[in-house]
Amino acid sequence: MLFKKSIPHLVAEAEKSGHGTLKRTLSSTGLVALGVGAIVGAGLFSLTGIAAADHAGPAVVLSFIIAAIGCGFAGLCYAEFASMIPVAGSAYTYSYATMGEFMAWIIGWDLVLEYALASATVAVSWSQYVNQLLLTMGINLPTELLNGPWEGGIINIPAIFIVCVISLLLMRGTQESALVNNILVVLKVGVVLIFIALGWSHINPANHTPFIPENQGESLVKSGLLSWTDFFGSDDFGHYGFSGILRAAGVVFFAFIGFDAVSTAAQEAKDPKKGMPIGIIGSLVICTILYVLFAYVLTGLAHYTEFQGDAKPVATAFAKTGYTFLNTSLIVTIICGYTSVILVMLLGQSRVFYSMSKDGLLPALFSDLSKRQTPWKTNLIFMVFVSIFAGFVPVSDLGHMVSIGTLFAFTLVCIGILVLRKTEPNLERPFKTPFVPLVPILGILVCVLMMASLPIESWERLAIWMAIGVVVYYLYGKKHSKIRKEYAAGTLKD
Ligand code: ALA
Repeated sequence: MLFKKSIPHLVAEAEKSGHGTLKRTLSSTGLVALGVGAIVGAGLFSLTGIAAADHAGPAVVLSFIIAAIGCGFAGLCYAEFASMIPVAGSAYTYSYATMGEFMAWIIGWDLVLEYALASATVAVSWSQYVNQLLLTMGINLPTELLNGPWEGGIINIPAIFIVCVISLLLMRGTQESALVNNILVVLKVGVVLIFIALGWSHINPANHTPFIPENQGESLVKSGLLSWTDFFGSDDFGHYGFSGILRAAGVVFFAFIGFDAVSTAAQEAKDPKKGMPIGIIGSLVICTILYVLFAYVLTGLAHYTEFQGDAKPVATAFAKTGYTFLNTSLIVTIICGYTSVILVMLLGQSRVFYSMSKDGLLPALFSDLSKRQTPWKTNLIFMVFVSIFAGFVPVSDLGHMVSIGTLFAFTLVCIGILVLRKTEPNLERPFKTPFVPLVPILGILVCVLMMASLPIESWERLAIWMAIGVVVYYLYGKKHSKIRKEYAAGTLKD
């Protein structure tokens, strides 16, 4: 038997638990800003250069388009759910309504990889830009305190610092966060626009030729000297050429993560039926346009090989323009922009665990609210958890885990739309994903393809994390599940 929540049950439950008292303050513009606030960050400002240097060359522009298409399909599915079930909890809640408790647990557990580890990843990248800023001020922090043990250091102190500051802020309350977020978004988008506008006239066309650097393995396959299977297993796969564009898409996919965070604010939207699709799709469209232009200018200013191992490509590229006096202000703005990503991600994380705890799948402490109405114990626990990752784990490993976890969640959301259209065809759907089943199926395909392009270790880590989750579910969640108790008491029927 599938232990599912009906959609009217979900909405009624949210009202009963006091969620209904959340103020509906977010307009469609506010929701788009929330999305952009969560989306634009380390993926763009740090990973674009590395993806170009290691995988795609200037064709990283195409990788952004592929990643955007994948997210677009998933985004349309999210929009249908979010307009139909305007309740906090996002993908976790949608799965509870469509695929039952076990899948809901799986997705909730998986979302930790997205929200918590994304904040750790962005914190590490934040520390690199902060270090750059300190250097320009003549302050030289020891490398041992800027890098984890796998990168030749001991601990990344600035990354832990920012995670703690933001967690403490969240514990104090989130009332003003929308306003702060809007300001940060304007600054962040401003940096991207300034970079594009000032950089455009300094593009050196030679840096864009060849646009798709040659992949030796692909050339050997074309001339019949290498089989496809040998090529897939070789180091050449993903190193430029078309396979490189695909692998870079898997890497820069990180830059789009966050649009789904809009759906966690569904209960605070003034008009969720209209606002949710606009917030989700609108922020995705705006970011895609910005990203493609940004990547084109970045790889035009400096040769892609110059970005090898460079986590601060904006500084490297901007140095070519002669506007170096703007460098410091750009870096300061980027640092501020990262802060909003960490904020929204940690906020999303606490909301998902809050919902899981309310359902009895996690201990009650995760839904304990402070006087200021914040789930402060969750914030505190995640402050420690995220700090450990931010302080010790290399940024690329973190980024890959985030990407694979998120792609897995997106895949499940696309499957959820297919399931719900079959099981509940008559429910009111204020926004309908177009061309069902084509769009969800394409969403699944593109997400799985991007997952396949990620290194095998990310798959192993995903499997280990999910295995731990299954054990926790059987040891705790299943036994304490509220919905199971309601079914057992006969107050709920299948
Ligand atoms: N998309 C967010 C970023 O790139 C997670 O920082």
